[in-house]
Amino acid sequence: MHTEIKALSPQEIKEHFYNSTTDELSLLGGELCRRIHGNKVLLRGLLEYTNHCSSNCLYCGIRRDNGSVRRYRINEEMLLEAVRQGTERGIRTFVIQGGEDSEYDNARICRLVESIKEQTGGEAAVTLSCGMKSATHYRDLRSAGADRYLLRFETSDPELHKYLRGGSSLTARLRALDYIRDAGFQLGSGFMLGLPGETEETRLNNILLAQKLELDMVGIGPFIPHPETPLADAEQKDLEMSVRGVALLRLALPEAHIPATTAAGSLEKDGRERMIAAGANVLMPNLTQVEFKKDYQLYPGKICLDESGIQCIGCLGMRMKPLDRELSFLRGDAPRLEREAAPGSPA
Ligand code: 5AD
Ligand code: SF4
Ligand code: FES
Repeated sequence: MHTEIKALSPQEIKEHFYNSTTDELSLLGGELCRRIHGNKVLLRGLLEYTNHCSSNCLYCGIRRDNGSVRRYRINEEMLLEAVRQGTERGIRTFVIQGGEDSEYDNARICRLVESIKEQTGGEAAVTLSCGMKSATHYRDLRSAGADRYLLRFETSDPELHKYLRGGSSLTARLRALDYIRDAGFQLGSGFMLGLPGETEETRLNNILLAQKLELDMVGIGPFIPHPETPLADAEQKDLEMSVRGVALLRLALPEAHIPATTAAGSLEKDGRERMIAAGANVLMPNLTQVEFKKDYQLYPGKICLDESGIQCIGCLGMRMKPLDRELSFLRGDAPRLEREAAPGSPA
């Protein structure tokens, strides 16, 4: 159907990156998004199931060494209740996101996925965002029925990556992404923008790496310094680089599912709207019970802390109207899957 639509080449991306204004990029990204995804914005219900984390990423508010976080772990019963409420409101993708928490071990997450699938009659897609694991663990999660996996590469600069992530290498991160793909997941990754030490070249390479990885989903957003981390005094960079990032990603990966992220909406009141206008086609209302939301602050100033996910869905619908966009309650799998499933399609 969209065979006439071609992604920009790395060289073309580079030319736009250095020569196009943000308005020009947004216009191109927004137009291309409309040609591919129409006026529909897909919804993903987010569940922040644990804020325990054994990792110590310098940028993150729930890093291991932040002793002032009130740690929580939402049990299966409560997660399934949130899924029930989301399902009732029409949500058909649930994103299970958390820190690297050994109490929620792989077998336990497998059982959770099975329960969600069972409760939704197999109708809902389950996306996991539970960090770095072994190839076997990813395969087991996929066998348990999980459909998609998100693991941001965070930054394409290998030195910066290692510095920010406690010595863990970009190579290891990319290997994990290979394991995830090989396990048969729809693959999501992404990065932050405005990290201390990042350059223009890093930002271009972020886009080129996302394209090279042939991602089905790409989530990006502004780095927002958290006061209880080693990066407390880092400079807050403008949202603009994230808006440019979304537009360039759309041009690099026309079919990808790209969320207008909560971090963008937290940094600027109209941050998510600006991302949608530039080519994002996904929104992620947070279905986590309100009593826990405030304890999952990877960055300060996170929005929607006092609103329920159900209230947010209403809010998001209103916010999309002036952009001439509508919420979609479809599952929204990667377009390549639908093609692969279609009879007579090339292998
Ligand atoms: N500002 C913005 N985004 C952050 N993340 C973690 N810490 C911050 C921060 N301080 C992002 C990372 C992670 C995702 C879940 O949240 O990219 O992968
Ligand atoms: Fe843990 Fe993820 Fe935060 Fe790193 S970014 S400290 S892995 S929750
Ligand atoms: Fe949560 Fe507007 S999206 S209150």
